[in-house]
Amino acid sequence: MAELVLGIETSCDETAAAVVAGGRRILSNIVASQVNMHRRYGGVVPEIASREHVAAILPVIDSALGEAQVRLSDITAVAVAYGPGLVGSLLVGVSAAKALAFAGGLPLIGVNHIEGHIYANFLAHADVKPPLVCLTVSGGHTDLLYIPEVGTYRMLGCTRDDAAGEAFDKVGRVMGLPYPAGPAIDRLAVDGDPQAVALPRALSEGLDFSFSGLKTAGINYLHNAKQKGEQVNQADFAASLQEAIVDVLVDKTMQAAKHLGVNQVIMSGGVAANTRLRWRMEQATNAAGMSLFYPPIELCTDNAAMIASAGYFRYVRGERAPLSLNAIPDLRLHNDEGI
Ligand code: KG4
Ligand code: ZN
Repeated sequence: MAELVLGIETSCDETAAAVVAGGRRILSNIVASQVNMHRRYGGVVPEIASREHVAAILPVIDSALGEAQVRLSDITAVAVAYGPGLVGSLLVGVSAAKALAFAGGLPLIGVNHIEGHIYANFLAHADVKPPLVCLTVSGGHTDLLYIPEVGTYRMLGCTRDDAAGEAFDKVGRVMGLPYPAGPAIDRLAVDGDPQAVALPRALSEGLDFSFSGLKTAGINYLHNAKQKGEQVNQADFAASLQEAIVDVLVDKTMQAAKHLGVNQVIMSGGVAANTRLRWRMEQATNAAGMSLFYPPIELCTDNAAMIASAGYFRYVRGERAPLSLNAIPDLRLHNDEGI
């Protein structure tokens, strides 16, 4: 039987555990979302997130083992996301993983959360093969990476301020949409005109991103309309905001992919669930003769199967984390920094 890795993920507001066989076959993938708890505050409250993780972590791990029909003694290694993320949240998963590894005499594998998002593609598609360019877009990150071979990461560009998902969520909040607003904007935009509202596309030079100017411009537009008593067409505004974000993401990803001469582009993270981003990136990669891969929606957003998969490939490379493993809230994914 293939090696079974128990993955644990608690970096933000989802408590998740999964069992994955041989790095690619998902036997269970349990996600307990706290989103209803944070919704009333319009965003994630770190202290509440930590407390919720403490309450959920053991039942979630039990469910992951139960659904996979395995016991702890069947598990080969325990993999845990130890950063980047909220320190109090990460610590719950890291502590649980260390306790299980110690109690079960199992190897402990530390996984970078962003690397996990990338591996969601390896879980979903057998044909993903470096060299490739990867766009990881979530509520906390906007990273453009060059992956010349499995396990090697070169950061090409990242956001200088807000993440792409943050721009969706924060402008969406002012639109009156529940947190997280990304999926609701995606749905509203279907009936809207993406050219209806003129919004800025920031940082045309280089491969870094910046979304705070767009966020401010979007919020100002909504406030001005409110002051003048004007009704904003939600669908048109949603489509315009989404287009401003998608334009920049597609443009920079394609610039990087063409410059590096890769044949594959992959996307990961919660924003990779966006319909328009998927469609526009599909058009752009097709036109350039490249293949595009992205995970199914349930593997785009935070989950532990992706952590188990990334952990498995670290395990087979002989990597082990010490039981002194700590949470690193600003952990980077970059080979020069030891990853
Ligand atoms: O990867 P993820 O679950 O958590 C982080 O690591 O941050 O990503 C959550 C983010 C949120 O900002 C949410 O609004 C965004 O992903 N998101 C979307 C869509 N689905 C989730 N943004 C745009 N369109 C979507 N369909
Ligand atoms: Zn994430």
